[in-house]
Amino acid sequence: MSAQVLAATAAAMVAKGKGVLAIDESTGTIKKRFDSIGLDNTEENRRAYRDLLVTNPGDQNYISGMILFDETIKQATSAGVPFSKVLISKGIMPGIKVDAGSKELARHPGEQVSEGLDGLRERLVKYRELGAKFAKWRAVITIGPNLPSSGCIEANVHALARYAGLCQEAGIVPMVEPEVLMDADNTIDRCHEVTEVTLRTLFNELVRQRVTLEHTILKTNMVVSGKLCATQAGTAEVAEKTVSCLKRAVPAAIPGIVFLSGGQSGLEATRNLNAMNAGYDLPWPLSFSYGRALQADALRAWGGKAENLARARQVLLHRERCNGLAAMGEYTDTIERELA
Ligand code: 13P
Repeated sequence: MSAQVLAATAAAMVAKGKGVLAIDESTGTIKKRFDSIGLDNTEENRRAYRDLLVTNPGDQNYISGMILFDETIKQATSAGVPFSKVLISKGIMPGIKVDAGSKELARHPGEQVSEGLDGLRERLVKYRELGAKFAKWRAVITIGPNLPSSGCIEANVHALARYAGLCQEAGIVPMVEPEVLMDADNTIDRCHEVTEVTLRTLFNELVRQRVTLEHTILKTNMVVSGKLCATQAGTAEVAEKTVSCLKRAVPAAIPGIVFLSGGQSGLEATRNLNAMNAGYDLPWPLSFSYGRALQADALRAWGGKAENLARARQVLLHRERCNGLAAMGEYTDTIERELA
């Protein structure tokens, strides 16, 4: 029974033309987003913003699930309906971020390890009662001179595999997220190399910890040039190198792969996803689980003001629709310009 539930959840997460909206920013991270529009990081402002994202009519056509933060899964709309109930009533699956953030890894200057395994079994039971169908854990891998170290990759994938096992035990689909950061000056080929090693190590560890690959969704970075690299790869090269990397390192048993946006603009993230789906034969559905790339334009349009709500909703739905089409390789520049 549980196996069927997990398989059905995983398949629904990457259903044709749909992807995931990540709105699981921690209180510290959402502060950075609110700072960009001059909004105070109060609990009510966070609730009002998530209300905008969660209750947007029509988004169920493009969005299969939303990843919530601990505070958010316990919050409700202005009308008093819990966010998770609103999502479930629209056919959108609530997900939950369960890692406790990345901390400095001892004896590894410049590298981090994600924490949060203690008490996770009990937390997962509570989240399931609150409606969570899947759970995300993000690990951060940094590229630099002599980085990443094997110690950092090993520590992070071990935690990912332990969390994934606990999720499956609880009847929750793990969305395992190793993120190779794109902030450095590395070339796209170096990103390819590091992402490939990370994913290979991750899948070895998942198997060793007896995680069922068929019930696991991979969330990963695209293979891109570091932000500070003098030569920036374009859409075709990003698509080609990302697909090559994933084909080498990700078993075909995985029911779906979704991408984080990691600092790409909304437009870049949509174009890159579309190029992969339009141009390649793939063993898994490739879709999106963007945070910034879906939210940035809407956040700016809203600006924290109630009178901008309708416009912000329109802008958000447009980006969601464009990415839903990109998940099928059917996005075009003409469609991009359709936003009224
Ligand atoms: P970005 O798309 O903004 O990278 O966020 C996705 C996410 O969930 C990172 O953990």
